[in-house]
Amino acid sequence: MRVAILISGGGSNMLALADSMTGAHPARPVLVLSNKPDAGGLEKAAARGIATACVDHRPFRGDRPAFEAALHDRLVQAAPDLICLAGFMRVLTENFVEAWAGRMLNIHPSLLPKYRGLDTHARAIAAGDSEAGCTVHEVTPALDDGPVLGQARVPIRTDETPETLAARVLVQEHRLYPAVVARVATGDRRRIDL
Ligand code: GAR
Repeated sequence: MRVAILISGGGSNMLALADSMTGAHPARPVLVLSNKPDAGGLEKAAARGIATACVDHRPFRGDRPAFEAALHDRLVQAAPDLICLAGFMRVLTENFVEAWAGRMLNIHPSLLPKYRGLDTHARAIAAGDSEAGCTVHEVTPALDDGPVLGQARVPIRTDETPETLAARVLVQEHRLYPAVVARVATGDRRRIDL
């Protein structure tokens, strides 16, 4: 199975995925694609010998369909069986999502359906929640929606800040995303709870 990984930043989830896809694993990373030329993850992927590319969203100046057409074309060249959004911070429209229906996953730093969108950890703390976590789900046109393939939970401590919580959830993200992709790569989409 050919896997493309989309990033916008440091790419720690991308690295966790890429490093898991070795040996007998049925999948391999074929492209790491960023919408930001300075995304730290691009260099890290290249250092591992993974093909990288950037489709910068800024020259498109808000023309989302044109940006997504360029993104789509670059992905088609890589011919992925699966696309993993890993800290990819652009909202994708229905047209793009439908073109890859059933073949695109996302990791989100909350226990969906709670806290779609941004600032998930601050919102969970402010709400007085006793736990937070992360979710891997299939991407559908609605933001941070779509069938859940896995979740990992993290208790929220009394002295928690968004930063301390984000750091502990990220550790779980690095366990959960590879576990889900390993399962999906064998055609098994049963939910995983860590
Ligand atoms: C991760 O925490 C991921 O869940 C989150 O961005 C971070 C990326 O970190 N994604 C979203 O918020 C998507 N809406 P990374 O670049 O180190 O993997």
